[in-house]
Amino acid sequence: MIERLKEIRAAAEEKIMNASDLDSLREVKVKTLGRKGEITVLLRGLKDLAADERAETGKVGNEIKQALEQLIEEKIAEIKQREMETKLAREKIDISLPGTLIQSGSLHPLSRVANEIKDIFIGMGFSIAEGPEIEYDYYNFEALNIPKDHPARDMQDSFYISDDILLRTHTSPMQVRVMEKTAPQTPVKIIVPGKVYRRDDDATHSPMFHQVEGLVIDESITFGHLKGTLLAFAERIFEQELQVRYRPSFFPFTEPSAEMDISCVNCKGKGCRVCSYSGWLEILGAGMVNPKVLENGGYDPEKVTGFAFGLGIERIAMLKYGINDLRLFYDNDKRFLAQF
Ligand code: DAH
Repeated sequence: MIERLKEIRAAAEEKIMNASDLDSLREVKVKTLGRKGEITVLLRGLKDLAADERAETGKVGNEIKQALEQLIEEKIAEIKQREMETKLAREKIDISLPGTLIQSGSLHPLSRVANEIKDIFIGMGFSIAEGPEIEYDYYNFEALNIPKDHPARDMQDSFYISDDILLRTHTSPMQVRVMEKTAPQTPVKIIVPGKVYRRDDDATHSPMFHQVEGLVIDESITFGHLKGTLLAFAERIFEQELQVRYRPSFFPFTEPSAEMDISCVNCKGKGCRVCSYSGWLEILGAGMVNPKVLENGGYDPEKVTGFAFGLGIERIAMLKYGINDLRLFYDNDKRFLAQF
């Protein structure tokens, strides 16, 4: 039996040494050492041998098994190493090659300007409030002192959904919504950025556009606070020193009301096409919160006063970047958008 074991060993060793891949090694292992392998089967015959012969043969058998197992392990390691080397040689990466340029998007100019406006007001202690774009007639008009038959409604041609629900025509409805939540606490210092909707559509009007509303309420707020805040804002958003002027205006929710003009950011007030040769640019509407609106929001107009303003983000972005057609913002032309 020992002779036979040695034969099997020799044959197996040869196969192992010649094996070129893991599969053929596995095959040798199964054929010699597996449960039905040649050595395993042969050693089952040990029990029929005489005692001293059995011990001797068993010892040799075990030695051969161990030797073959070890040999196979070594060969496996060798083959794996070789496979890794050929793989590395084949898959050489040239790190000096230029990479593939991944095109990345950028913020829409309106988002950029909205973010800048928010940053400026946050820096002045304002917080940001957001409200529904589908709004009750009450908040959009009534609560702002614009009754059903008021001519001021004509300035804001609206998309009605039902008799008392519409797409908000401005961000002002958030004034009373915020007051209802905070009254009678002071101060209130908020801005409301967001989308608004009107039935207008031409080179300078879009049925959807963006506004930022501002509202400040506290004891003894004056027109001086309004002027100081809005001048600081305008100079920061346009990154230059500016002249401002206020023209009397009318909004039912402010009293007094004004339009704020800034000296033309293009010609510094000398007169050019951007400012229609007037030297001034109309930039926002503002005023002292009408006592009736304070009351509607739950504040006592004998105790507090406030100022409010509303501005168009598109208008600011057009002036800031020298864009002359409003529709460029909504065309989604990459040649335009990639410039920001
Ligand atoms: N809501 C006005 C509009 O869209 C703008 C406005 C004017 C808002 C005066 C105000 C304000 O808060 O005080 O035309």
